[in-house]
Amino acid sequence: MNDTIALLKRRRSVPPPMMTGPGPTPDELATLLTVASRVPDHGKLAPWRFVVFEGRARERASRLALEIRQADKPDLDEAMREEEQRRFARAPLVVAVVSRAAPHAKIPEWEQVLSAGAVCMNMIVAARALGFSATWLTEWMAYDGRFRAAIGLAEHERIAGFIHIGRTTAAIEDRPRPRLAEIVTTFSE
Ligand SMILES: Cc1cc2nc3c(=O)[nH]c(=O)nc-3n(C[C@H](O)[C@H](O)[C@H](O)COP(=O)(O)O)c2cc1C
Repeated sequence: MNDTIALLKRRRSVPPPMMTGPGPTPDELATLLTVASRVPDHGKLAPWRFVVFEGRARERASRLALEIRQADKPDLDEAMREEEQRRFARAPLVVAVVSRAAPHAKIPEWEQVLSAGAVCMNMIVAARALGFSATWLTEWMAYDGRFRAAIGLAEHERIAGFIHIGRTTAAIEDRPRPRLAEIVTTFSE
């Protein structure tokens, strides 16, 4: 079977707590970001950008998440505190794919948003091709304006995904996939 088809047929998300290092090298990260930004993009607007979380900066991002959760719930229990403290530290690399879709005279905003989804998926496939596991998450932080601002997003920018990338040794069972018969119709003559 063709290598790309084999990779796509095997691809599976891995829970970030199951990811370990080492993460991508600087060269591998540059490859991931380069191929992720090589997606269909109506109008060539590049209506997306990246924020990279690596090394100690992952702890800083996790602390920001914890501070927001504690502001909302001062009596956060120990398990929840720990969960937030590790939010960005589970995988060796987290890349936020930021959608900067905005109204445009010719290009519908919807198409700009779709392009950000393509960026996420390209990054996941490229990470797998380099031998990493990758998982697309949003979690509560993507939908919290305080968190978005704290990591440098403008008011109109949104998180398409926090792509978690790392190594996994454990085998992950596949999940049931949609049956083609349920999702495909053929337009008749
Ligand atoms: C935009 C988007 C956001 C997602 N956010 C989460 C999330 O916050 N938490 C989660 O458990 N899964 C999330 N998922 C689902 C996982 O990425 C993944 O698709 C799911 O675990 C199924 O695994 P698979 O990739 O092996 O098919 C999200 C998927 C998408 C497309």
